Amino acid sequence: MATDSRDRDATPTNDGSSTGNGHAAHLERSRTVWDRWSDWYGMSENDFEPMREAAIDHLALESGDRVLEIGCGPGVNFERIRDDIGTSGELVAVDYSPAMIEKARARIDAHGWENVHVRRADATTVEFEEPFDAALATLSLSVMPDIHRAVETAYRSLVPDSTFVVFDVRPFPDGPARVLNPFVWRFLRWYANWNPEGDVVASLDTVFDASEVADTYMQGATYTVVCEKRDAD
Ligand SMILES: C[S@@+](CC[C@H](N)C(=O)[O-])C[C@H]1O[C@@H](n2cnc3c(N)ncnc32)[C@H](O)[C@@H]1O
Repeated sequence: MATDSRDRDATPTNDGSSTGNGHAAHLERSRTVWDRWSDWYGMSENDFEPMREAAIDHLALESGDRVLEIGCGPGVNFERIRDDIGTSGELVAVDYSPAMIEKARARIDAHGWENVHVRRADATTVEFEEPFDAALATLSLSVMPDIHRAVETAYRSLVPDSTFVVFDVRPFPDGPARVLNPFVWRFLRWYANWNPEGDVVASLDTVFDASEVADTYMQGATYTVVCEKRDAD
């Protein structure tokens, strides 16, 4: 069961460290934005449920797997992952927003899941003692202060021969809907503290040994990428 001591893992970034002030400012805005939305997350939870389910299908989880979830929010994926890994597996989920972590913990407590743990952390810098069999990030990488670094962290956190699945949002990649991109861009920046400086798909392609856009929705503006970390040889 989660304990408050996990809050020690929140990473201070406004200390002039290598992560820089832009990183610290983005993180601080993320905390404010996502703390605010934590009370109003039901709509997003319902609207994206089929896409999240399809993304988790790509993980092909087995009973006993250890899974990492990056930017878990209020724990919208917990029940499905817990169903897949059973009581012998483990789910470790990280999020930077204290209010989201509180909601996620309440969900864990309500279900009595003893093998689901949440930890407040900046997913771009967090370290884990044990690597994971699989990892998932839904609607979270695109709001990270350093997307490429978050992807590198995910890669480092996995065992060889494992899968990372990402479901996320981006501007319309082609077609007439592209005319809407400046508005989409502004809306996502305001609503979600979206990070326009990173490219989730490109970073996944660079960092992972293989990656493929497996599903697209809403004319490509939302998509799922399945990535593989292969055996070290
Ligand atoms: C749109 S919500 C997605 C929540 C959930 N995964 C879902 O599918 O609905 C984005 C989440 O990413 C979290 N987040 C943003 N930046 C983060 C960071 N640097 N480290 C960890 N979590 C972060 C936010 O706090 C927020 O809960």
